[in-house]
Amino acid sequence: MKNFSGTKLIAALFSATVAALLVASCASTPVEKPHALRTNQLLDDDVVPVELSYLGKTPGEQEKIVRTFEQQPPLIPHKVEGMRIDFKLNKCLGCHDRPNYQKEEAPKIGDSHYKDRDGKELNHISMGRYNCNQCHVPQVDAPPLVANTFTSAKQ
Ligand code: HEC
Ligand code: HEC
Repeated sequence: MKNFSGTKLIAALFSATVAALLVASCASTPVEKPHALRTNQLLDDDVVPVELSYLGKTPGEQEKIVRTFEQQPPLIPHKVEGMRIDFKLNKCLGCHDRPNYQKEEAPKIGDSHYKDRDGKELNHISMGRYNCNQCHVPQVDAPPLVANTFTSAKQ
Protein backbone atom coordinates (compact mmCIF):
# COMPACT_ATOMS: atom_id res chain seq x y z
CA MET A 1 0.00 0.00 0.00
CA LYS A 2 2.78 2.37 1.01
CA ASN A 3 4.71 1.53 -2.10
CA PHE A 4 1.69 2.14 -4.31
CA SER A 5 1.07 5.67 -3.05
CA GLY A 6 4.80 6.39 -3.36
CA THR A 7 4.65 5.51 -7.06
CA LYS A 8 1.58 7.67 -7.44
CA LEU A 9 3.32 10.63 -5.84
CA ILE A 10 6.32 10.28 -8.15
CA ALA A 11 4.01 10.07 -11.16
CA ALA A 12 2.17 13.20 -10.05
CA LEU A 13 5.42 15.09 -9.48
CA PHE A 14 6.69 13.97 -12.89
CA SER A 15 3.62 15.12 -14.80
CA ALA A 16 3.66 18.44 -12.95
CA THR A 17 7.28 18.97 -14.00
CA VAL A 18 6.54 18.06 -17.60
CA ALA A 19 3.59 20.44 -17.65
CA ALA A 20 5.70 23.24 -16.18
CA LEU A 21 8.44 22.66 -18.73
CA LEU A 22 5.93 22.68 -21.59
CA VAL A 23 4.42 25.98 -20.44
CA ALA A 24 7.91 27.46 -20.07
CA SER A 25 9.05 26.36 -23.51
CA CYS A 26 5.89 27.70 -25.17
CA ALA A 27 6.35 31.04 -23.53
CA SER A 28 10.01 31.52 -24.44
CA THR A 29 10.47 30.07 -27.97
CA PRO A 30 8.46 31.66 -30.75
CA VAL A 31 6.50 29.07 -32.73
CA GLU A 32 8.24 28.53 -36.06
CA LYS A 33 6.02 28.27 -39.10
CA PRO A 34 6.35 24.95 -40.92
CA HIS A 35 8.38 25.39 -44.09
CA ALA A 36 6.73 23.71 -47.02
CA LEU A 37 7.96 23.56 -50.62
CA ARG A 38 4.64 24.95 -51.87
CA THR A 39 4.72 28.71 -51.82
CA ASN A 40 0.98 29.36 -51.80
CA GLN A 41 -1.54 28.69 -49.06
CA LEU A 42 -3.23 25.31 -48.92
CA LEU A 43 -6.65 26.68 -49.79
CA ASP A 44 -5.48 28.94 -52.66
CA ASP A 45 -5.73 27.85 -56.27
CA ASP A 46 -2.76 25.78 -57.36
CA VAL A 47 -0.05 27.70 -59.20
CA VAL A 48 1.13 26.09 -62.42
CA PRO A 49 4.87 25.45 -62.05
CA VAL A 50 7.22 27.16 -64.50
CA GLU A 51 8.02 24.82 -67.36
CA LEU A 52 11.76 24.19 -67.52
CA SER A 53 13.40 22.90 -70.64
CA TYR A 54 15.65 19.88 -70.56
CA LEU A 55 19.34 20.29 -71.20
CA GLY A 56 21.16 18.32 -73.81
CA LYS A 57 21.01 17.77 -77.53
CA THR A 58 21.05 14.76 -79.82
CA PRO A 59 23.08 11.91 -78.22
CA GLY A 60 26.73 12.02 -79.22
CA GLU A 61 27.17 15.75 -78.83
CA GLN A 62 27.82 16.22 -75.11
CA GLU A 63 30.12 15.36 -72.25
CA LYS A 64 29.04 12.88 -69.61
CA ILE A 65 27.91 14.42 -66.33
CA VAL A 66 30.35 13.84 -63.45
CA ARG A 67 29.00 11.39 -60.86
CA THR A 68 28.82 12.65 -57.28
CA PHE A 69 28.52 9.47 -55.22
CA GLU A 70 29.35 5.76 -55.37
CA GLN A 71 26.79 3.63 -57.17
CA GLN A 72 25.04 6.68 -58.59
CA PRO A 73 23.02 5.90 -61.70
CA PRO A 74 24.69 8.31 -64.16
CA LEU A 75 22.56 11.26 -65.21
CA ILE A 76 21.48 11.40 -68.84
CA PRO A 77 23.40 14.20 -70.58
CA HIS A 78 21.41 14.12 -73.86
CA LYS A 79 17.80 14.91 -74.66
CA VAL A 80 15.30 12.07 -74.27
CA GLU A 81 12.20 13.54 -75.95
CA GLY A 82 10.40 10.98 -78.06
CA MET A 83 12.50 8.07 -76.77
CA ARG A 84 9.84 5.53 -76.01
CA ILE A 85 10.12 2.79 -73.43
CA ASP A 86 7.20 0.40 -73.53
CA PHE A 87 6.42 -3.31 -73.70
CA LYS A 88 7.40 -3.61 -77.36
CA LEU A 89 10.08 -0.99 -77.79
CA ASN A 90 12.94 0.40 -75.73
CA LYS A 91 14.68 3.19 -77.60
CA CYS A 92 17.49 3.38 -75.04
CA LEU A 93 18.51 -0.23 -75.69
CA GLY A 94 18.78 0.61 -79.38
CA CYS A 95 21.95 2.56 -78.58
CA HIS A 96 23.16 1.36 -75.18
CA ASP A 97 22.56 -2.41 -75.28
CA ARG A 98 25.50 -4.79 -75.77
CA PRO A 99 24.81 -5.63 -79.43
CA ASN A 100 24.43 -1.95 -80.41
CA TYR A 101 26.66 0.32 -78.34
CA GLN A 102 29.79 0.07 -80.50
CA LYS A 103 28.01 0.84 -83.74
CA GLU A 104 26.11 3.72 -82.07
CA GLU A 105 29.21 4.97 -80.23
CA ALA A 106 27.21 5.08 -77.00
CA PRO A 107 28.42 4.21 -73.48
CA LYS A 108 27.85 0.51 -72.80
CA ILE A 109 25.22 -0.40 -70.21
CA GLY A 110 26.88 -1.54 -66.97
CA ASP A 111 27.51 -5.30 -66.52
CA SER A 112 25.35 -5.15 -63.39
CA HIS A 113 22.34 -4.70 -65.69
CA TYR A 114 22.86 -8.14 -67.21
CA LYS A 115 22.43 -10.09 -64.00
CA ASP A 116 19.27 -11.34 -62.37
CA ARG A 117 18.52 -10.55 -58.75
CA ASP A 118 20.46 -13.62 -57.60
CA GLY A 119 23.55 -12.40 -59.46
CA LYS A 120 23.21 -14.98 -62.26
CA GLU A 121 24.60 -13.81 -65.64
CA LEU A 122 21.96 -13.25 -68.33
CA ASN A 123 22.47 -12.98 -72.09
CA HIS A 124 20.03 -10.05 -72.22
CA ILE A 125 19.31 -7.06 -69.99
CA SER A 126 17.54 -7.89 -66.73
CA MET A 127 13.87 -6.95 -66.75
CA GLY A 128 14.55 -5.24 -63.42
CA ARG A 129 16.56 -2.71 -65.46
CA TYR A 130 14.22 -2.37 -68.42
CA ASN A 131 12.62 0.86 -67.27
CA CYS A 132 15.76 3.03 -67.56
CA ASN A 133 14.08 6.28 -66.45
CA GLN A 134 13.32 4.77 -63.09
CA CYS A 135 16.98 5.38 -62.21
CA HIS A 136 18.52 7.50 -64.98
CA VAL A 137 17.13 10.98 -65.43
CA PRO A 138 17.74 13.84 -67.85
CA GLN A 139 18.60 17.27 -66.45
CA VAL A 140 17.09 20.76 -66.35
CA ASP A 141 18.99 23.86 -65.29
CA ALA A 142 16.97 24.63 -62.16
CA PRO A 143 17.96 26.19 -58.85
CA PRO A 144 17.66 23.70 -55.96
CA LEU A 145 14.28 23.89 -54.18
CA VAL A 146 16.02 23.79 -50.81
CA ALA A 147 19.50 25.24 -50.25
CA ASN A 148 22.03 22.59 -49.28
CA THR A 149 25.74 22.17 -48.67
CA PHE A 150 26.24 18.79 -50.36
CA THR A 151 29.70 18.11 -51.72
CA SER A 152 30.70 14.89 -53.38
CA ALA A 153 32.74 12.39 -51.37
CA LYS A 154 35.84 12.86 -53.55
CA GLN A 155 36.09 16.61 -52.95
C1 HEC B 1 20.92 7.58 -80.52
C2 HEC B 1 21.62 6.84 -79.50
C3 HEC B 1 21.17 6.97 -78.04
C4 HEC B 1 19.90 6.78 -77.53
C5 HEC B 1 18.61 6.44 -78.28
C6 HEC B 1 20.02 6.96 -76.09
N1 HEC B 1 21.31 7.26 -75.76
FE1 HEC B 1 22.05 7.57 -73.91
N2 HEC B 1 23.84 8.14 -74.66
C7 HEC B 1 24.19 8.09 -76.00
C8 HEC B 1 25.52 8.68 -76.17
C9 HEC B 1 26.26 8.81 -77.49
C10 HEC B 1 25.96 9.08 -74.89
C11 HEC B 1 27.28 9.79 -74.51
C12 HEC B 1 26.99 11.26 -74.19
C13 HEC B 1 26.55 12.02 -75.41
O1 HEC B 1 27.37 12.24 -76.28
O2 HEC B 1 25.36 12.36 -75.49
C14 HEC B 1 24.88 8.71 -73.96
C15 HEC B 1 24.93 8.89 -72.58
C16 HEC B 1 24.01 8.34 -71.70
C17 HEC B 1 24.19 8.24 -70.26
C18 HEC B 1 25.40 8.69 -69.46
C19 HEC B 1 26.33 7.54 -69.20
C20 HEC B 1 27.48 7.91 -68.29
O3 HEC B 1 28.32 7.01 -68.03
O4 HEC B 1 27.59 9.05 -67.82
C21 HEC B 1 23.06 7.65 -69.76
C22 HEC B 1 22.76 7.34 -68.32
C23 HEC B 1 22.17 7.40 -70.88
N3 HEC B 1 22.78 7.82 -72.03
C24 HEC B 1 20.91 6.84 -70.75
C25 HEC B 1 20.00 6.76 -71.80
C26 HEC B 1 18.60 6.44 -71.63
C27 HEC B 1 17.93 6.12 -70.33
C28 HEC B 1 18.04 6.45 -72.87
C29 HEC B 1 16.59 6.25 -73.24
C30 HEC B 1 15.63 7.18 -72.65
C31 HEC B 1 19.11 6.77 -73.82
N4 HEC B 1 20.27 6.98 -73.13
C32 HEC B 1 18.96 6.82 -75.20
C33 HEC B 1 23.42 7.57 -77.01
C34 HEC B 1 22.06 7.28 -76.92
C1 HEC C 1 17.35 0.03 -60.91
C2 HEC C 1 18.11 1.18 -61.38
C3 HEC C 1 18.60 1.20 -62.81
C4 HEC C 1 17.90 0.92 -63.97
C5 HEC C 1 16.43 0.53 -64.10
C6 HEC C 1 18.82 1.11 -65.04
N1 HEC C 1 20.05 1.50 -64.55
FE1 HEC C 1 21.72 1.95 -65.64
N2 HEC C 1 22.81 2.19 -63.95
C7 HEC C 1 22.30 2.13 -62.66
C8 HEC C 1 23.39 2.31 -61.71
C9 HEC C 1 23.24 2.31 -60.20
C10 HEC C 1 24.57 2.50 -62.46
C11 HEC C 1 26.01 2.72 -61.96
C12 HEC C 1 26.58 1.46 -61.36
C13 HEC C 1 26.58 0.33 -62.33
O1 HEC C 1 27.16 0.44 -63.43
O2 HEC C 1 25.91 -0.66 -62.02
C14 HEC C 1 24.16 2.41 -63.87
C15 HEC C 1 25.03 2.54 -64.95
C16 HEC C 1 24.62 2.70 -66.27
C17 HEC C 1 25.49 3.09 -67.37
C18 HEC C 1 26.99 3.38 -67.28
C19 HEC C 1 27.73 2.08 -67.23
C20 HEC C 1 29.20 2.24 -66.96
O3 HEC C 1 29.91 1.21 -67.02
O4 HEC C 1 29.69 3.33 -66.68
C21 HEC C 1 24.71 3.15 -68.49
C22 HEC C 1 25.15 3.54 -69.90
C23 HEC C 1 23.36 2.76 -68.09
N3 HEC C 1 23.36 2.49 -66.75
C24 HEC C 1 22.28 2.70 -68.97
C25 HEC C 1 21.03 2.18 -68.62
C26 HEC C 1 19.96 1.95 -69.57
C27 HEC C 1 20.01 2.27 -71.05
C28 HEC C 1 18.91 1.41 -68.86
C29 HEC C 1 17.58 0.91 -69.39
C30 HEC C 1 17.64 -0.12 -70.43
C31 HEC C 1 19.31 1.37 -67.45
N4 HEC C 1 20.62 1.80 -67.36
C32 HEC C 1 18.52 0.95 -66.40
C33 HEC C 1 20.98 1.93 -62.31
C34 HEC C 1 19.96 1.56 -63.18
